[in-house]
Amino acid sequence: MTGANGWFVVGLGRAGLPLATALDRAGALAGAWTRSAGTADGARGVLRAPVQHGPLPAFATRLVLICVPDDRVVRVAAAIAHAAAPPIAVVHTSGARAASLLTPVLRPGDAAGAAHPLLPLTGSPDDAEQLRGAFFAVDGDSPAGLDAAERLAADVGGSPHRVPAEARTAYHAAAALASNGVYALLAAASAVCEGAAMREPALSAALAGLAARSAHNARDLGVVAAATGPIVRGDAGTVAAHLEAVAGHGANVEALYRATAALLVEVANARGLDDRSVMALHAVLGAGSASRG
Ligand SMILES: NC(=O)c1ccc[n+]([C@@H]2O[C@H](COP(=O)([O-])OP(=O)(O)OC[C@H]3O[C@@H](n4cnc5c(N)ncnc54)[C@H](OP(=O)(O)O)[C@@H]3O)[C@@H](O)[C@H]2O)c1
Repeated sequence: MTGANGWFVVGLGRAGLPLATALDRAGALAGAWTRSAGTADGARGVLRAPVQHGPLPAFATRLVLICVPDDRVVRVAAAIAHAAAPPIAVVHTSGARAASLLTPVLRPGDAAGAAHPLLPLTGSPDDAEQLRGAFFAVDGDSPAGLDAAERLAADVGGSPHRVPAEARTAYHAAAALASNGVYALLAAASAVCEGAAMREPALSAALAGLAARSAHNARDLGVVAAATGPIVRGDAGTVAAHLEAVAGHGANVEALYRATAALLVEVANARGLDDRSVMALHAVLGAGSASRG
């Protein structure tokens, strides 16, 4: 399937290397290019298909996958369109951007697609396994562009779901909350423990495991049914004590605790927590923030 029918992957960073690895394992990778010699050397140890670096090479494939930072995608697509024989289908992996972002720099007959794997990819070859069955947010500037995006998802064993241009920024903001937000929450949790007589790194690992288990429960049961803790129990006294514990660890940590607590009161409400407990929680959470405002 390689050669003119395979994919040429441009950019072998955190997302590009796992995607190229999955394509390579599926026999669907014709070649790859990345900007730096060091990244290319690392990729050569993983991929069977040829890996180039330096100036963008001429290539014969009709399917090109761009895995460079979002703000560089258009410039790289323009260089690809300049170097390749038409027609080509160029797919980018940005979640926030539409496929049609590329249309102005492509030529008549070319097509643009977007295929965003909803995964936190770190560049590890193990990530290639995670792509199997993964949700891919796909979009196209044309039927051919959408076909290419869906094909990319299928070639790495993923599951394509249409996320059209007008929905992509909201989709990606949601993804950032669910993924990047977890890192912010864990950073805040570590900050609150700092200085207290608690053993690291066992505690950090346990807190990350706790976050993973909570996400697991939310996936299986839904957020409203899965949520645990003092807010959904209506333990306003514990929440008041937490507010004292998080104070002094920075304004962002306290603001994060208050924001997540306020959202969890809505979850508790949806779960049917009694009005008296909801009012007590509002009073505790409102008291500190009102005196600050
Ligand atoms: N990481 C994720 O979890 C994830 C998940 C889904 C989608 N994505 C999407 O994948 C794309 C790449 O993200 P990433 O996380 O893989 O970024 P990354 O780890 O920073 O890798 C980006 C790659 O692009 C190359 N590059 C950087 N600037 C370039 C330029 N000006 N011209 C040509 N190549 C350039 C770099 O090549 P060298 O290393 O050779 O210099 C690098 O390998 C983004 O659109 C992102 O939204 C990422």
